[in-house]
Amino acid sequence: MANPIAISKKVITDVLIIGAGGAGLRAAAAIKEKSPFTSIAAITKVSSAQKSHTCTAQGGVAAVDPKDPHDKIIYHEFDTWKGSDCSCDQNVVRRVCSLAWDEIIWLEHHGLHFSRSPEGRIMKRPFGGHTLNFGEIKAFRSCYEADRTGKGIQDTVYFMALKNDVQFYTEAVFTELILDGECCYGAILYDMNEGEFVECRAKATIIATGGKARMYQVTSNCRQNTGDALSIFLRQGLPLMDIEAVQFHPTGIVGPGILASEALRGEGAVLRNNQDERFMERYAPTIKDLAPRDLVSRSIMTEIQEGRGFLHPAHQLPHVMLDMRHLPDVVHDKKLVEVSSFFKTFLGVDPKVELCPVTPTAHYQMGGIPTNIDGQVQIDENTIIAGLYAVGECATASLHGHNRLGTNSLLELITLGRTTGEHVADYISQVTINGSSYSGDFTRSTFDKLLAVSNGSESQFKLRRELTELMNRCVGVFRDEKILLEAIEKLKELKERANHVEIKTKNLVLNQELLVTWELHNLIDVSLGIAASALDRKESRGAHFRLDFPERSDDYHYHTLCWMDQDMNCRLGKRKIDMSIYETEQGALKEKFGIIERKY
Ligand code: FUM
Repeated sequence: MANPIAISKKVITDVLIIGAGGAGLRAAAAIKEKSPFTSIAAITKVSSAQKSHTCTAQGGVAAVDPKDPHDKIIYHEFDTWKGSDCSCDQNVVRRVCSLAWDEIIWLEHHGLHFSRSPEGRIMKRPFGGHTLNFGEIKAFRSCYEADRTGKGIQDTVYFMALKNDVQFYTEAVFTELILDGECCYGAILYDMNEGEFVECRAKATIIATGGKARMYQVTSNCRQNTGDALSIFLRQGLPLMDIEAVQFHPTGIVGPGILASEALRGEGAVLRNNQDERFMERYAPTIKDLAPRDLVSRSIMTEIQEGRGFLHPAHQLPHVMLDMRHLPDVVHDKKLVEVSSFFKTFLGVDPKVELCPVTPTAHYQMGGIPTNIDGQVQIDENTIIAGLYAVGECATASLHGHNRLGTNSLLELITLGRTTGEHVADYISQVTINGSSYSGDFTRSTFDKLLAVSNGSESQFKLRRELTELMNRCVGVFRDEKILLEAIEKLKELKERANHVEIKTKNLVLNQELLVTWELHNLIDVSLGIAASALDRKESRGAHFRLDFPERSDDYHYHTLCWMDQDMNCRLGKRKIDMSIYETEQGALKEKFGIIERKY
């Protein structure tokens, strides 16, 4: 029998940042620029901030160079709006696209070395859905550092954090928000290194925990991306937004599921089916293999389902092929050397002479914690939680609507990381720390319950396998009412069975058994939110595709809000989509930002 959980330590800081990846640490840098004497604590689930998932981002950051003779910010705004299937918030799009180039320069000045052209200019490559002149031809818009742009960003903001004396807590997880009505005063943390639960009091708390796609069988996400923060929001009675919008990146490497970057297709790689046909020419005649990800992933799945795919002999996974054989050596050996080498490392395939097996992989969540443009967490259209912010992939402002364009995510985390940090700096100058006592009941009951199971009949590994297979099959690239209802019923069963997983190790220091069982619950909670939101949206929009409702419908021109009750039932609501560019522009430009047809 384990001792009851106690909150045994108290820490006080001006700002608590939960998640120390690119978004969280860009916010930290912005706070320090505005308010140098602010104390900041940053917690990370991994053993060093340098292992954050941001480091794995390969392809680049979208930004229009004001000196570019061809590209314009308005094209970037249009592509983002069209790419989102008319469901991103235009005020956010305008802010992010306008700040993009400033952030590229900020990163350069603080240490990132972008790849350079022979003339010394920052190199840019094409990515899916990025075009010139409102869809006419592909744009060279994604600034990059070879195929490790995310690592370059993380190194830069981590160095700034060290210089700014940010206090790091590694291998620590967030277990509860300290809430009082519509105010947040910090969070409860499980410091796994010390084996203790900590009450962290802060004037402002920023959630920047990244993605959550580990509930899928094939995913590019690191093993820590288990949706912990999103589950806590649901279970503390707060809503999530647009979580039905899950992005499947078309070219996951069969086996590990990690990315063969879209940059490969930007450099000229093409997809082929088992007839050796370059099939994207049929689905997106204008921009072909560089169509947005939702469209390419659906095309791949259609090829597979109509018998034109392959079955991988070792992994038993259906797939198509990425053809890079014609690319020049400079792409294989220099520009995208790491990505190209992945095929050799994981599959023993040489991309210079062989076709490479790829399949859609759960990559990114467009939905998450609802925020306004300043990163303040919202509980409905008009109400914020004072002192609580969210930024990066876990948050939904929303820049991406129901489908994100490649390289707009690194852009989001640096631009909104900065502006959220600036807002936090102003906010904390007006408030004091709330030091009143707090019970931590939610954390204590959650962990006491997990540790109390004895003679447990279930294995968390088996449940996880069932969960990921279910989510891939029923809540994947294609959905319909029947399979979504099946998913919801089975997810509730899995949740009940998860209550019978016994944790044999009772010691709290680095207790991996406890951690993975807690994560299993989190994954199931968020999966239920995804399935319920997907069931409610009886249309197809961006990455959310319903076989029974294959068209987009204006009746669903809103963001989905999702709350969950104690019995795991979801209640759904709406938030308006911001159309401020449409409302302020005139003439032909105005039309581009209306409810437009989405063809490529
Ligand atoms: O394909 C990629 O390199 C991924 C980029 C992104 O998700 O933005």
